[in-house]
Amino acid sequence: MRATTPRSSGRPLALVTGASAGIGYELARLFARDGYDLVVTGRSDKIYQAAAAFEEEGAQVIPVQADLAQYDGVEAVWQAAQATGRPVEAAVLNAGRSIGGAFLDTDLDDELDLISLNVASVVHLAKHVARHMAANRNGRILITSSLSATLPTPYETVYGPSRAFTYMFAQGLREELKEHGVSVTALLPGATDSDFHARAGMANTAFGTGAKKNSRIDVAHQGFDALMAGKDHVVAGDRATKRTALIHRFLPETFKAARHAHKAKPRA
Ligand SMILES: NC(=O)c1ccc[n+]([C@@H]2O[C@H](COP(=O)([O-])OP(=O)(O)OC[C@H]3O[C@@H](n4cnc5c(N)ncnc54)[C@H](OP(=O)(O)O)[C@@H]3O)[C@@H](O)[C@H]2O)c1
Repeated sequence: MRATTPRSSGRPLALVTGASAGIGYELARLFARDGYDLVVTGRSDKIYQAAAAFEEEGAQVIPVQADLAQYDGVEAVWQAAQATGRPVEAAVLNAGRSIGGAFLDTDLDDELDLISLNVASVVHLAKHVARHMAANRNGRILITSSLSATLPTPYETVYGPSRAFTYMFAQGLREELKEHGVSVTALLPGATDSDFHARAGMANTAFGTGAKKNSRIDVAHQGFDALMAGKDHVVAGDRATKRTALIHRFLPETFKAARHAHKAKPRA
C-alpha cells in the first residue's frame, strides 16, 4: 500500500474508494468536475492512472493503492486522508466485488475476503469518517449497495447479502448521524457496465453475456445527485431497474431467488 504526499488548496475534499475503475471512477470524476480535491483508492496500480485523469479535471489528487479487505489497508486510506489536515466533506464507500458460481464449488477463503471488503471495510472506514464528520458537524457519505440488496442472489450467494448489509447499514447510520449534521445516502445500482461481472468469474452467465446493463456514467450521476440532494437512497439505472426495485418489495423471496438463479447460474 502506497500513498503520495498530500498538498493543500481551498477546495473541498472528497474520499472515494474503488475509484480506479467502474462506478467509483465515474463518481470521482464527477467530484473533480464539481470542484473537489480527492483522496482516491484502488487495489491495483490503475489508481495512479485514474488520479492523473482526475487531475486533468482540475483536482488535486492523492492516490492510495491499498487492499481494503485488509485492516491495515483501510487504516492506510484513512491516514492518507488525515495527513491532508483538511476536513473530508464527502466520502464514497464504494469498493466492492462479487464471486459467481455454485456455493458448493466456490472457495471459502475467497468468500471471507469478499465479506472483509464488502462489509468489514465499509464499517471500518465509516467509523473514521462518521466520527470525523460529526466532529465537524458537516459531511455527506455515499455507501454503495446494489439492487441485489432487494433479493436473494443464488450463484452469487454471498454477494447479495453483503450488499443488503450495506443498504441497511447506510439507512441506520443516516438516522444516527442526522443530528450531527451528516447525511448518509445508499446507492443501489442495477447491473452496470463495468468489469464487475467478469472479475466475479461470471462471463459464462446471462449477466456476463449480452445482458443489457446500465451505463456506469448514468449510475454515477444518479448517485452523485442523490448524495448532494441528501436523499436516503437511490436505485440507480434506467426505468426498468427502478421498476424492478419497486416490484421486488411485493414479490416472494423464493420467486426472486429462482429468477436470479436463472441469470446467474453458470452455463454448462
Ligand atoms: N457493476 C454492477 O453491475 C454493480 C451493480 C450493483 C452494485 N455494484 C457495486 O458497485 C461497486 C463498484 O463496482 P463496479 O461495477 O464499479 O466494479 P469494478 O469496475 O470491478 O470496480 C471495483 C473497484 O473496487 C476496487 N477494489 C476491488 N477489490 C478491492 C480490494 N480488495 N481493495 C481495494 N479496492 C478494491 C477496484 O480496484 P482495482 O480496479 O484497482 O482492483 C475498483 O476500483 C461495488 O461495491 C459493487 O458491489 C456494482
